[in-house]
Amino acid sequence: MAEALLRVEALDAAYDAVQVVWGLNLQVQAGTVTSLIGSNGAGKTTTMNVIAGTLPARRGEIIFRGEDITTKPPDLRVGMRLSLIPEQRQLWPRMTVEENLLLGAFPRRLRGKAKENLKNIYEMFPRLGERRKQYAGTLSGGEQQMCAIGRGLMAEPLLLMLDEPSLGLAPMLVDEIFHYVRVIAARGVTILLAAQNANYALQFSDYCYVMESGRIALEGRSEKLRCDHHVRRAYMGAAS
Ligand SMILES: Nc1ncnc2c1ncn2[C@@H]1O[C@H](COP(=O)(O)OP(=O)(O)OP(=O)(O)O)[C@@H](O)[C@H]1O
Ligand SMILES: [Mg+2]
Repeated sequence: MAEALLRVEALDAAYDAVQVVWGLNLQVQAGTVTSLIGSNGAGKTTTMNVIAGTLPARRGEIIFRGEDITTKPPDLRVGMRLSLIPEQRQLWPRMTVEENLLLGAFPRRLRGKAKENLKNIYEMFPRLGERRKQYAGTLSGGEQQMCAIGRGLMAEPLLLMLDEPSLGLAPMLVDEIFHYVRVIAARGVTILLAAQNANYALQFSDYCYVMESGRIALEGRSEKLRCDHHVRRAYMGAAS
């Protein structure tokens, strides 16, 4: 098999003295959607933040595009085309949609392309175009998520990490956000998706890792895990 776009080896992560991720191994193949599922507090967000570089790894290695990025600062990882859309979205509420989007275009090589990329984002998310002068803080939850995803795409990622993109959204909007996940993947962007909603994650991903108490408990092709007894009962609300 070809070298994975992202490879995480024996990763430990901790908040001060409290270790929450233990010996995690994970690979994301280029051109796929990979999901990371697990219940509350399993360690999904922690893992995503360590990969993005906003939380240091306690131990282990993160290899992206064949390069060891374990100690690289987050902005250099974005420059290498790895972007995270964080769980809390982290938009600037008193800046407009367009100003927020433009903040995503900070890597130097993109300065000349910001205008063109902005146009592409508005084509993909027409609602952001209609609201480009609106303060981000006044957008609906779904629109805020679109804005956060758009900002991530402005950095032209090869790997886009989405942490709970459907968090707090009404069912119809959840469908819409996952529709966009598919559109982005179809454009050739590799995706790593963390989600509590296993039904969606397994439906929209090729490969899945199941995290329990800071460890990978199970992994496999998503279509196979959809039929797995334990996964169905623990994460998909099946009665048996
Ligand atoms: N800033 C922090 N300081 C201390 N402990 C933290 C911090 N953030 C998370 N934790 C703890 O780390 C563990 C893993 O949390 P994490 O947010 O990674 O889980 P998660 O799988 O993303 O959960 P959720 O599905 O609720 O988003 C939890 O026990 C949590 O309480
Ligand atoms: Mg989380």
